[in-house]
Amino acid sequence: MLNYIKHFKKSLGLSRDVFFKQGEAKSFEEIQKSGSRTDVINVLLSRFDRPTYYLEVGVRDPRDNFLKIESKNRYSVDPGLEVEENLADFKCTSDKFFEGMKQGEWRSLPDKFDVIFIDGLHIAEQVDRDIANALEVLSEDGFLVLHDCNPPTQWHAREAFNFFRSPAGVHWNGTTWKAFVKWRKNKSFYSFCVDTDWGVGVISKHFQMGKALELDTEFYEYKLLETKREEVLNLISFENFIQLTDK
Ligand SMILES: C[S@@+](CC[C@H](N)C(=O)[O-])C[C@H]1O[C@@H](n2cnc3c(N)ncnc32)[C@H](O)[C@@H]1O
Repeated sequence: MLNYIKHFKKSLGLSRDVFFKQGEAKSFEEIQKSGSRTDVINVLLSRFDRPTYYLEVGVRDPRDNFLKIESKNRYSVDPGLEVEENLADFKCTSDKFFEGMKQGEWRSLPDKFDVIFIDGLHIAEQVDRDIANALEVLSEDGFLVLHDCNPPTQWHAREAFNFFRSPAGVHWNGTTWKAFVKWRKNKSFYSFCVDTDWGVGVISKHFQMGKALELDTEFYEYKLLETKREEVLNLISFENFIQLTDK
């Protein structure tokens, strides 16, 4: 009877369930981690012995990351969905931008970039397309970097960005992780994920870091990530990343 009452209260939202407590704790833990997406990108850029070209897909407020990037040649793409004034160089979606690159429409741009940061629409299908398009314009020794590859709970990995009454609250990583996992299976690339700032994924054609992922399923449910996180993402600590990338 007692259990029934408890369940009934929960179903009415009269007491906060364990998922809310876990979600809040996980968000707090993630925010405390040292090292940021900006640090990861700057470390990768520092490996080049030449002036570099950097592209950011999805920039929002450039003061948060873009303007802190240490590269002589920085370019940004964003349709401006989340800001009053869109300060991106290319005020369009990533699809439109990459199509323009293919057609040679953007004359001021180089043919290839050394680091491309993919942080636009965080839905697997779009991220998958962004990765494929970005690889076409990545230098042979370049790096693709993806934000939000390591959602700490299934609530952070929800599809609906503006559903805030979940245990993740305002935090949202979307389904980027699924696109990252798909490319981790590709034997032509090396990839790993730095365990900081909601998971900073790195894909490279040349930087030999771990083997491709062997997976016997085509269906990427959150349970897969939850139970095999280290293996699925090739997850490494920020400190380990610094050591590995030391020249
Ligand atoms: C998470 S924010 C980017 C944050 C920024 N990169 C940073 O590190 O601070 C996501 C941005 O992606 C943009 N965006 C949404 N859909 C997009 C699309 N299809 N192509 C490119 N950018 C998109 C949004 O307008 C938003 O500004």
